[in-house]
Amino acid sequence: MNQLDLACESFRKILEEQLSRIQAMNTEKVDFSKKKTVTIGLVDGDGIGPIIMEQAVKVLKYLLKSEIAAGTVILKPIAGLTIENRLALGQSVPSHTLAQIKSCDVLLKGPTTTPMGGKMESANVTLRRELDLYANVRPVSIPQEGIDWTFYRENTEGEYVLGSRGVELPGMAVDFKVTTDPGTERIARAAFEFARQNGKNRVSIVTKANIMKKTDGKFTAICHEVAKDYPEITVDDWYIDIMTANLVNPAIRSQFQVFLLPNLYGDIITDEAAQIQGGVGTAGSANMGDRYAMFEAIHGSAPRLIEEGLGAYANPASILKAEAMLLRHICRPQAAQRLESALERCPLTVEPGGTTCAQYAEAILNLL
Ligand code: IPM
Ligand code: MG
Repeated sequence: MNQLDLACESFRKILEEQLSRIQAMNTEKVDFSKKKTVTIGLVDGDGIGPIIMEQAVKVLKYLLKSEIAAGTVILKPIAGLTIENRLALGQSVPSHTLAQIKSCDVLLKGPTTTPMGGKMESANVTLRRELDLYANVRPVSIPQEGIDWTFYRENTEGEYVLGSRGVELPGMAVDFKVTTDPGTERIARAAFEFARQNGKNRVSIVTKANIMKKTDGKFTAICHEVAKDYPEITVDDWYIDIMTANLVNPAIRSQFQVFLLPNLYGDIITDEAAQIQGGVGTAGSANMGDRYAMFEAIHGSAPRLIEEGLGAYANPASILKAEAMLLRHICRPQAAQRLESALERCPLTVEPGGTTCAQYAEAILNLL
């Protein structure tokens, strides 16, 4: 078979797989307020992952001390999600590790390294797909400027779902972007529900539908359809390029509340937003599905910090914010509130030569 035929064959397979993914989308939500025991999986990750996770687990154990003692919360450390192990096994998430992860309800996860190029998929992308974590929720707030943003990033489709499945022909390469009806509807509903339940009156849809006409066009249309069920909420739509500019425009940026976006734009703009808040080390990230949820720092594994011998200065603020989101998700609002308030009041900033990761966590423990 020639290369063109092979590429067409592979495209057919991809389309068939995506069609069956739509069929398998499950929408039954776990109700944590009714669950007798909650198992929290703990995954260290790579680079600074084990360093920030050690502190995050210390804080978690303190906050949930009596529940852990009573057995209503189980902390389950899960090994094996390291870049060395993944490369050795040739699996982005080793099957044994994945099985352990699936035995938990929620995960607290340190950053994992994604090799550039090659065939190995990012562990994050694999986990989001395997656990069907379709909503990536990233809050960013700067109270003194009146900024209180929540990003609802679609997390299982777009450019990511087939990011490791592109085709190459002599002299060219093609990647695919996928947007489905149910995949869009569920993220839109999650964003509007969040807005309704949190007193927000504006949701901004962000795409590049003038260029990505089919996929982003569908995304926009379905979001507007879902919006009809939320008449009290104002909806507007924007293109991603101007929205990245809006976020650095102090004259208008505080007017935005909830952002609803496809995967890749959401990835990019949330780093920008976190930087505006004080750095990518400062924002938490929740990956939510109906069955599972995974909470992590918004940043990567920072291999440069490790190479320079500065791992002790890794900032745990982002993973601790994610931890607060985890506590809220499993219906432990008081523990979440205590941690959020300690994070707000902590006067320290982690930086090389100054406060260390461990000292910051110690300060948080003292503020709880
Ligand atoms: C993020 C990260 C991931 C992404 C990487 C690690 C795959 O940048 O969670 O934003 O691109 O989604
Ligand atoms: Mg990112």
